[in-house]
Amino acid sequence: MHHEASSQLRVLVFAASLRSGSLNQRLADLAAAVIEEHGAAADRAAMADFDCPSYNGDVEKTGFPAGAQRFRDRLVAADAFVISSPEYNASMPACVKNVIDWVSRIRPQPFNGRQGLLMSASPSMAGGNRGLWSLRIPLEHLGARMYPDMFSLAQAHQAFDNAGRIAAPVLQERFDRNIECFLDLVEAAKHYRPLKKLWVEYLGEHPDPAVDRVEQTTVEAGS
Ligand SMILES: Cc1cc2nc3c(=O)[nH]c(=O)nc-3n(C[C@H](O)[C@H](O)[C@H](O)COP(=O)(O)O)c2cc1C
Repeated sequence: MHHEASSQLRVLVFAASLRSGSLNQRLADLAAAVIEEHGAAADRAAMADFDCPSYNGDVEKTGFPAGAQRFRDRLVAADAFVISSPEYNASMPACVKNVIDWVSRIRPQPFNGRQGLLMSASPSMAGGNRGLWSLRIPLEHLGARMYPDMFSLAQAHQAFDNAGRIAAPVLQERFDRNIECFLDLVEAAKHYRPLKKLWVEYLGEHPDPAVDRVEQTTVEAGS
């Protein structure tokens, strides 16, 4: 499906790595290029834009860090988000979990109802895929609709060609197809009411409006 400018999809794209020369930044750049090839708009961000001091409930009482507010604003302006994340010790990098924790405290909670796609790049043979399984957990908990297929690029330090594409044609094709299918789902989700709209922060055995924080999804059909 080609996505025309009149109802152009907007996708926030960033790599969850702070270092220059990041392999995940290269994969995020490629994702943004493929998103644009399909007629959608890619909002390219950098992890440094969103980086925050460690979450601290005392600091929260004085306000949210600028990085968390920037992440929230860019999420709200997007129909969907793509994160290319390194794997650190078989899990996600602390910087990305930390900003997710900060943003989860902002109301309305902006992950609820948004479509998300995860990818990873690593020099290892597993391509950082284990880290994505951990990154899905807080995002799904927050009501994001995480796309089932996660693309992990193994031996990423030698996987790109000079044009920044994946040198192995079969893998580049799979990458393109993954993004195309994701964009189709994002497009469909824009036009159909989500099945699940309520987000309940803590599922308690004894529902109590005084302590339960329950929100309707902020992403409505046709919005
Ligand atoms: C603290 C730390 C832990 C790491 N743990 C893993 C790991 O569990 N699995 C893996 O595939 N690579 C691991 N790596 C290697 C990263 O995949 C590699 O440094 C990668 O290039 C990081 O992503 P980036 O290039 O986007 O910054 C680790 C690197 C660091 C710094």
